[in-house]
Amino acid sequence: MTKTPAPKSGILDIAPYVGGKSKIDGVAEPIKLSSNENPLGAGEKAREAYLGAIDYLNLYPEGRASRLRQAVAEKHAIEPERLVFGNGSDEVFTLLNQVYLTPGDNIVTGQYGFLAYRISAKANQAEVRLAPEPNLKCDVDALLELVDERTRLVYVSNPANPTGSWNTAEEIRRLHGALSDSVLLVIDEAYAEFVVEPDWQSTIDLARTATNIIVTRTFSKIHGLAALRVGWGYCPLPVAEAVDRVRLPFNNNIPGQEAALAALFDDEHVEKSRALVLQWRPRLAQAIKGFGFEVFPSAGNFLLVRFPDAKRNAQAADAFLHSRGIIVRPVGGYGLTDCLRMTVGTDDENRALLDALSEFAAS
Ligand SMILES: Cc1ncc(COP(=O)(O)O)c(C=O)c1O
Repeated sequence: MTKTPAPKSGILDIAPYVGGKSKIDGVAEPIKLSSNENPLGAGEKAREAYLGAIDYLNLYPEGRASRLRQAVAEKHAIEPERLVFGNGSDEVFTLLNQVYLTPGDNIVTGQYGFLAYRISAKANQAEVRLAPEPNLKCDVDALLELVDERTRLVYVSNPANPTGSWNTAEEIRRLHGALSDSVLLVIDEAYAEFVVEPDWQSTIDLARTATNIIVTRTFSKIHGLAALRVGWGYCPLPVAEAVDRVRLPFNNNIPGQEAALAALFDDEHVEKSRALVLQWRPRLAQAIKGFGFEVFPSAGNFLLVRFPDAKRNAQAADAFLHSRGIIVRPVGGYGLTDCLRMTVGTDDENRALLDALSEFAAS
């Protein structure tokens, strides 16, 4: 009998990424608060642009996403040639890991750092080093403690998923200042548009003159285009040029490029999406705390809720919410087995969530 060839070493040790659930048996339209998506959907302008792309389905996309590149560069006052576009920002992390990691190298991230950084690091036979996050927040000293001569990339999501915590501009500056030039510091700003904390600042400014900082952003969250997979990284020019050599030539499809371009200029939709989160995030937090559960401070479009009670625990809460047609996100994959992550939804969805949690607390 022949044997199927084995994948290269380490691949089968990678736990497959499990996305947020989207279905409940017997429920036609569940309330999906499990993937930090935009509950308002895509804006009108992006939808029109997407539909307009139907006439170009026979064509290969423009490989450098030139119009989108120019528009993003203008919006953020950054150099277009320093941008790398990915099939979601997830792909930018994957590409960076592919370009910079050789077997035996390592990446450093926080204990609760976004899982996507780790998967492709392992696929490149690199070690993943997780720094303790004692207060569910990335700790600069703990990260630095793990950095050694084999560290090629340090990943920080700011704000962080799934904790919702953020690092101050001062902390990021200190982290960068302590790293040698040979280490790339990746700051993932997928949730940047939802931050109001005055001590937070985008790292884009610091990245302008640095030789080793990459800042990533996505069209999946505030712009509501998760399905189309468009994200970007602002890189030092040599990094962008290196990544471009291995990037698939057509990694951003035409409908994605067109919709993202339109979304970028849809200020009304951005404002509406932001306002919804800013209005509900504190309201949800306060109400959920009132039910006796712990809510961690969040700068994202979601809340991390802890269920400390042995009986009314996270698993029971998850099952109860399911029975009410609501899907949230268990975060046991991050070791947070007593927590659930809940995306801020529409007015009606948030009310339904609060009603269900209130009922669960009283059960
Ligand atoms: C911290 C963080 N970074 C990146 C992403 C992925 O974004 P994209 O859809 O652009 O791949 C997510 C998605 O949930 C996220 O939570």
